[in-house]
Amino acid sequence: MTSAQLEEDIKVFGKKIFEQIGKTQPSAFNTSFWSGKIMEWSMQFPTFKTDMFRLVDVLPTLNSSRSIAAHVSEYLKDSAKEIHGLASWGVNVPPDSLRAKATSFAVKQGVGQMAKQFIAGETPKQALKELKRLRNSRLAFTVDLLGEYCLSEKEADEYFNRYVEALQVFGDTVPGWPSAQPILPGHPGDRTAICVSVKLSALYSQCYSLNYKKSVEVLSQRLSQLVRIAQEKDVQIYCDAEDTGHNGIIYQVFREVFGSEEFRSYPYPGIVVQAYAKNSMALTKSLLGLAKERGGPIAIRLVKGAYWDAETVSCSQRNWENPLYTQKYESDKNYEEISQLLLSNLDHVLPAFGSHNIRSLSHACVFAAQHNIPKNQFELQMLYGMAEPIAKAFEKEGYLVRLYVPLGELIPGMGYLVRRLLENTSNESFLRHTFYDDKAIDELLIAPGTLKKNGVPS
Ligand code: FAD
Ligand code: 2OP
Repeated sequence: MTSAQLEEDIKVFGKKIFEQIGKTQPSAFNTSFWSGKIMEWSMQFPTFKTDMFRLVDVLPTLNSSRSIAAHVSEYLKDSAKEIHGLASWGVNVPPDSLRAKATSFAVKQGVGQMAKQFIAGETPKQALKELKRLRNSRLAFTVDLLGEYCLSEKEADEYFNRYVEALQVFGDTVPGWPSAQPILPGHPGDRTAICVSVKLSALYSQCYSLNYKKSVEVLSQRLSQLVRIAQEKDVQIYCDAEDTGHNGIIYQVFREVFGSEEFRSYPYPGIVVQAYAKNSMALTKSLLGLAKERGGPIAIRLVKGAYWDAETVSCSQRNWENPLYTQKYESDKNYEEISQLLLSNLDHVLPAFGSHNIRSLSHACVFAAQHNIPKNQFELQMLYGMAEPIAKAFEKEGYLVRLYVPLGELIPGMGYLVRRLLENTSNESFLRHTFYDDKAIDELLIAPGTLKKNGVPS
């Protein structure tokens, strides 16, 4: 098959997906809600974006209207001059006034609404209704309990116990649902309807690269304990990839646990590869090596990576070499190269393409079709609340689509929420180009690196 044919077929397939989506907007971009307005202002006014995200970051720790109103005035006073609608937030009002109370209410409501779009509930029990709704609409799920980088062993224990509770609640309830039956018969990922994603950095308070050996040892023990319960309750587990500083530990723990004799037969343990990392192709090859050695396939969720802004700023502040690509098209191109590698190794891997980018996903689907790979041999994954119309369009085309569904309270979820806001409002975001900038579909579907902006590929 030629690459010209691949490109031609991606165009046809991608356009069909865009047609299915029609004018439907993901709720995150809906400006009838406060959350959509916050997004819109963030895209229009860069200073508002910085000020607002700083406010969002501290908001959950503020517990009186007085302090909320004082922080709103402090953080948003400059932006308020530029943005008409912000005046109704009562910037620069006396902190004890009625207006301050109204401000506090409006801000909390806006941020709470935004959080609710991306977080499906606080506890596993509370989330059951929403998870059932997803499965009833033929969408699979993987549940993530919000939390990362815990600061004490007490916090680590609590996080561990929340996972134990989640495995028990889902294990005891979900199999009884009629919709727990496979969405795509014969799909290895849908062998069980229960799937969870774990951020290992939240399971050990001393998880640092400087404490590498001990971190791997402790986390391997803790993950093994969870996998024993998961095995009993028939739950699939993914270990999320995190920042570059923690990933070395995460990949080693994954190898130790799932390469061990005890978990050799555990079906499809999942790990994440971030295509924005320059070493991600080599990493994927070494994970395929692990699958061969253990004698049983693993699942690999391919994503671009969620820590680009933070790591790029850190590296440039310290003049370190950036381990991540710095041009968006490089991450997109690498994503496609790794997609092809995964789809060419189906004896060893269940590929899960995690993206909201219709070009990236169409590339994987079309490459698979051209190589006669059945739709039930790989899956597509998207984040809850980010791109419902895209998820439904691919589901209608007969693919297994799994949503990554975070649960928990706002404070441990702040990092996650801020990453979603940064992602959706970035100048490079596919969702922004599609649902806010109205970029031409032909341009959205073109191969990464083909177009040139000021002589530079994009
Ligand atoms: P696009 O708009 O096509 O791509 C945006 C991404 O491109 C950015 O997030 C960044 O990675 C990259 N990028 C942006 N600007 C540049 C630049 N200048 N140079 C180079 N690269 C750039 N992320 C994790 O890190 N760990 C996880 O475990 C994880 N799990 C996920 C699970 C699911 C189901 C999904 C859908 C995503 C997950 N992510 C995870 C998030 C993911 O990494 C992306 O942040 C997100 O999906 C946006 O990428 P996109 O392909 O949807 O959108
Ligand atoms: C994040 O936490 C989805 O794992 C990804 O940003």
